[in-house]
Amino acid sequence: MLGVAGGIAAYKACELLRRLTESGHRVRVIPTESALHFVGAATFEALSGQPVHTGVFSDVPEVAHVRLGQQAELVVVAPATADLLARATHGRADDLLTATLLTARCPVLLVPAMHTEMWLHPATRDNVALLRSRGIVVMEPASGRLTGVDTGPGRLPEPVEIAELARLLLERADALPHDLAGRRVVVSAGGTREPLDPVRFLGNRSSGRQGYALARVAAQRGAEVALVSAHTADLIPPAGVRMVHVGTAEQLREAMLVEAKHADVVAMAAAVADFRPATLVDHKIKKTASGPPSLTLELNPDILAELVELRPAGQLVVGFAAETGDETGDVLFHGRAKLARKRCDFLVVNAVGEGLAFEQPDNAGWLLSSDGGETELPSGSKALLASRVWDAVASRLT
Ligand code: CTP
Repeated sequence: MLGVAGGIAAYKACELLRRLTESGHRVRVIPTESALHFVGAATFEALSGQPVHTGVFSDVPEVAHVRLGQQAELVVVAPATADLLARATHGRADDLLTATLLTARCPVLLVPAMHTEMWLHPATRDNVALLRSRGIVVMEPASGRLTGVDTGPGRLPEPVEIAELARLLLERADALPHDLAGRRVVVSAGGTREPLDPVRFLGNRSSGRQGYALARVAAQRGAEVALVSAHTADLIPPAGVRMVHVGTAEQLREAMLVEAKHADVVAMAAAVADFRPATLVDHKIKKTASGPPSLTLELNPDILAELVELRPAGQLVVGFAAETGDETGDVLFHGRAKLARKRCDFLVVNAVGEGLAFEQPDNAGWLLSSDGGETELPSGSKALLASRVWDAVASRLT
């Protein structure tokens, strides 16, 4: 069920609806009366292929006000206005959407969008806290341009992010807890680029998706998150996350050392170049008759090792290892050796190669822990893998 409340961001619900139906879900839209001031019922009906009603007196023989909630496998409300949050908190059932929220026993994802003043008002804060304490996932809004000239927290996250979280809630058998509230988390993501000359660099195939998913899921579990991002595919900055952009391994190192100082958790998901060209040529290297130039490389610092060395008491450090396995051992064998070598608290081990992990939306692997724990991370979205990592981290933090 896709609920749509009456705010200008209702127009973005159309794109969310398309994304959900295109990924194979049967979606029924339940707008509020006021949502229809922004988007017509015909638009939702055409995009969903399902009838659209707002009140409890339509479809009476079908007892829609009870059935829709009972049958739902997931209820998403996007946008959820301050008024909708208030009505949901107090168990009102004065339209089809709030009646559906009362009868739903499946995961519920509310995606707020409103002006900053409304989002920060104590009434809304209390409502959100109460809804979260009941296991309802209330997404952190994005910061940025709101209607008119205002900017600040309260913007509807991009439909692609909402769809990612919706998929995560369908994939996880249990709810997404708000258990990282008050925790400071730093995540690195993407691939570093080591310049050769003004137009060329040594890079790698990391898309940054896994690191962005880690940051996004941590923020949605309540953490204050900084995402140190090297080069990535065309990714949307996660809602509610502070971005720090870097290019080279050295810049990544500097940013991580600053950010990690006061963090409770550091996750190094970035693909750091182990080597960089020993000299940066200040002009474009030209072809010459004497053949291709030779390239001298020098070692980059091992940032993870440095973070482990410098970590303050109580900080947890999560490393990542992309392995292929070879004649000396399989992926897990190399992962165990790397955990011992890197001395981090957790190591996420992925098998990489053609069609695995890199540039893919899905991921799988193992989570190895310094206390000897080994958990298989079954194939699923990168957000699911991220959420399993945070499950383990959150239980170690407490
Ligand atoms: N890493 C790092 N600094 C580097 C290289 C890697 O901080 N210069 C981090 C990565 O972000 C990752 C972990 O170390 O969290 C493991 O990266 P990987 O490339 O698998 O490890 P290496 O130490 O480079 O080992 P290998 O010999 O397998 O390349």
